[in-house]
Amino acid sequence: MTARPDAPLKVTGSATYALDNLVDRAAHGFLLLSTVAHGEVASMDVDAVRSAPGVLGVYTPFEPLALHPVTSPLLGPMWLPLQDTNVTHHGQPIGFVVAETFEQARDAAGLAAVTYEERQAATSFADGLASAVDAQPAASEAPPSLSVLADGVASIEDALDASDVTIDATYETAPQNHAAMEPHSAVAVWADGELTVYTGNQASHLVAADLAGALGLPADAVQVRNPVVGGAFGGKATSMPAVLAAAAARELGRPVKAALTREQVFTATANRPATVQRIALGARRDGTLAAVRHDSWSSATPDLGFIEPTSHGTSREWYRTENLAISQKAVPLNIPPATFMRAPGEGPGSFALESAIDELAVALAMDPIALRTRNNSTAPPGEDLQWSSKHLDECFEVGAARFGWERRSPDGRVEGDWLVGMGTATAMFPGLRFPATVGVTLHADDTATVAASGADPGTGLLGVLGIVGAESLDLDRDRITPLLGDSRLPPGGLSGGSTATASAGSATMVAAGTVIEQLLALATAPDGPFHGREVGYADGSVHALDDTDRAPMTFGEVLRSTGRDSLGATGTTAPGEEMAKHSFGSWGAQFCEVRVHRLTREIRVSRLLGVFDAGRIINPQAARSQLMGGMIWGVSAALHEGIEFGADGRVTNRDLADYLLPVNADIPDVDVRFVEHPDTLLSDLGARGLGEIGLVGMAAAVANAVHNATGVRVRRIPIRLEDLLED
Ligand code: MOS
Repeated sequence: MTARPDAPLKVTGSATYALDNLVDRAAHGFLLLSTVAHGEVASMDVDAVRSAPGVLGVYTPFEPLALHPVTSPLLGPMWLPLQDTNVTHHGQPIGFVVAETFEQARDAAGLAAVTYEERQAATSFADGLASAVDAQPAASEAPPSLSVLADGVASIEDALDASDVTIDATYETAPQNHAAMEPHSAVAVWADGELTVYTGNQASHLVAADLAGALGLPADAVQVRNPVVGGAFGGKATSMPAVLAAAAARELGRPVKAALTREQVFTATANRPATVQRIALGARRDGTLAAVRHDSWSSATPDLGFIEPTSHGTSREWYRTENLAISQKAVPLNIPPATFMRAPGEGPGSFALESAIDELAVALAMDPIALRTRNNSTAPPGEDLQWSSKHLDECFEVGAARFGWERRSPDGRVEGDWLVGMGTATAMFPGLRFPATVGVTLHADDTATVAASGADPGTGLLGVLGIVGAESLDLDRDRITPLLGDSRLPPGGLSGGSTATASAGSATMVAAGTVIEQLLALATAPDGPFHGREVGYADGSVHALDDTDRAPMTFGEVLRSTGRDSLGATGTTAPGEEMAKHSFGSWGAQFCEVRVHRLTREIRVSRLLGVFDAGRIINPQAARSQLMGGMIWGVSAALHEGIEFGADGRVTNRDLADYLLPVNADIPDVDVRFVEHPDTLLSDLGARGLGEIGLVGMAAAVANAVHNATGVRVRRIPIRLEDLLED
C-alpha cells in the first residue's frame, strides 16, 4: 500500500465513480428545474413528456414519489424533492423524468408545460441587508450575538473609543459552489426488498440512514457504496439524487441512474453563502488589541437553513483581546440552498479579519507579523480553556525566514512594469473529533484489512487508515488493505469538519490493540500453539516471552494452526471528558507574493507558502496535497471564484466556463511546510485536522499582498482588475 492507494486507479481512469457502475436494465433519470425564483407550481402538463420516446416514469409535485420526512443528525431536516408545489429559488427541482436513456429523459423533460403563480422574489443581498434578521450561526450553539468585556467597560463602543488607534471597515465575500469534479449522481438497484445505492458522499452510513428514513425501510435494508468520490468539500453530506433514484427504481421495478448536469449542480445542490462583514479593531500604540468588533451578515434561504458562521469562526477565538463583540445576521433570499463548504465560516471570515489586521498594522506602522505575534492568544477570549497545543508563532517564524519576509518593504517594490507585494495572514481551524468505529481484520495469508464506512473524497483518509493500521499492527504497509465507502463496514471515517484522521485514526489504534489481544488469547488457548506460554506480539508475529528459543509464528501461521481464515475486531473512540479541559485548533501562517502589472492591473500570484501546525502528520504526501488544494482555493476565492445572480434570481455563471476556477497557469509552485508537534490531548494519535485550514487566511494574504504592491485596499472578493484601476 502506498500513501495514496487510490491514486493509480484515479490517474489511469479506472476508478469506479458512482455512475460508472454499469447495472443491467438501468433506466436514466433527468431533473426538471423551476424557471421562476419564487411562487407555486400552478400546473404541470406532462402528457407530451409521458408519450415521448423511451419515457418510463414522470414524477412531479402533483404525482410525487412517496417519501417520508428525514432529519439527519448532522444537518437537520433534509429537503426532499417534489413533495410540494412551493418554489423558493430559480433552478429548484420540480420534476424527475425517467427514460430508457439519459438523452430521452432530458429531451422529454423539455416537453413539460409548467405554469406558476409567481410571487415577488428577493434576490439582492445588498438590498436585503437593511432588513436582516438575527440568525443562529451554523455549527455553533452560541447565540447570534455575544460579547466579552473587561471589568468596568460598558460597551464595545467605549472600548473602541478609548483605543489609541482604530480601524473600521466592511468586507464582502462572494457565494461559491463546491464545484466537485464528480457532479452529484446515484445509481439505485433493488433486489428482494433491499436497496443498494452507489453515490458519491462523505459518509456512506449517514447517507444510508437518510435513504432508509426517506423510503421507510429498516436501516439494514439499505447499502450505500462510494469507494471513490470525486470531491465533496461539504457538498456531498447528503445525496438528493440517491433519494430520487431509489424511489423511482422502486416504482419502476428496475435500476435507475440519476445524474445532475454541471449546470444543475449549481442550483439543485447547495452553495456557500455570500457574506458582508464589518470589523472594527482598537489597539494601543504598541499594537496590543484592546477591542474587536465583528458583525456578520450571511445570505440565506427563506427558512434560514444554513448561516455562514464568519465572526463565530474567527474573531470569537483567534486573538487575545480584553473586549470582544460579535454578531450574526442573515438576509433571507430566493436563491439556491446553502450548506457547509470547506472551512465554513473560517474561510470567508478570515478574509475579513485578516484583512482588518493588515489594515491595523498599516495604521500602526507595524509589521503585520509582529502585530499578530503581539496578540497571540493562549485561550479564546473570556474562556479559561487553554489551547491544547499551539505553535502559531513558530509557523510565522519558519514562514518568514523561508519566504524572505525581511525583504518586504511597506510600499512593495517595482520590477520593470510589475508592482510586487507580499502579504501574510493567520490560518486557524478548530481541532475536532467525532465518534468513530473502525474494523481491523487479520487474515490467514498474513495480510490485514482496516475498514470503515466513511469516505475518502480525495483527502487521503484511505492512506491514513493503511498507515495507522500498519503502525499499530507493526506490519509493512504493503500487507495492509484499507477499505472505505461501504455503509455495511463499521461506522467511522465520516469526512467532514477536518475530523477524519483524528477520529478514524484513533479508532484504528484501538481496533488493532484489541485484535492483537484476541490473537494472543487464541495462541495461548488450550488448542493454541503457545498454550501455557507467556506471549508477546511484534513485527506481525506472536513469540514466547518465556522461551526465546521457541520460533515466533506470524499471525497468519497462528490463524492457520487454529483452523481460522481470519480474526477481526472493531475499535470505537469518541471525544470524552478530556476534550472539555482544553480548546483545540490547528494553526497556520499563510504567505503570498503577487505581481500586479503597472498598466493593465493584471494580478499574478508568484509565490505561495503555508506553514501549518496540525499536530502529528500521518500521511505527509496527502496532507501536503490537502493543504496545497486549500491554498489554491484561497487564491481562487481572492481572484477568481464567485456565483453571480441575475435580478431574477437566476445563476448566470452556472458552468465551469463562466464560473472561474484557477488553472495551472494561475498557480505558481506552492510551498507547504509543517511544524510538527503531536497533540496527544486531542487523541492518542497526536494528529489534528488539516483538511480545511489550507484555504483559511489565504484570500486575505492575497489581498494584503495586492495592497502591499499597489497601495489599493480591496475589501471585496473576488478582486477584479477594475478594483485596481485609478479613477
Ligand atoms: Mo466539510 S465543509 O467539513 O464537509
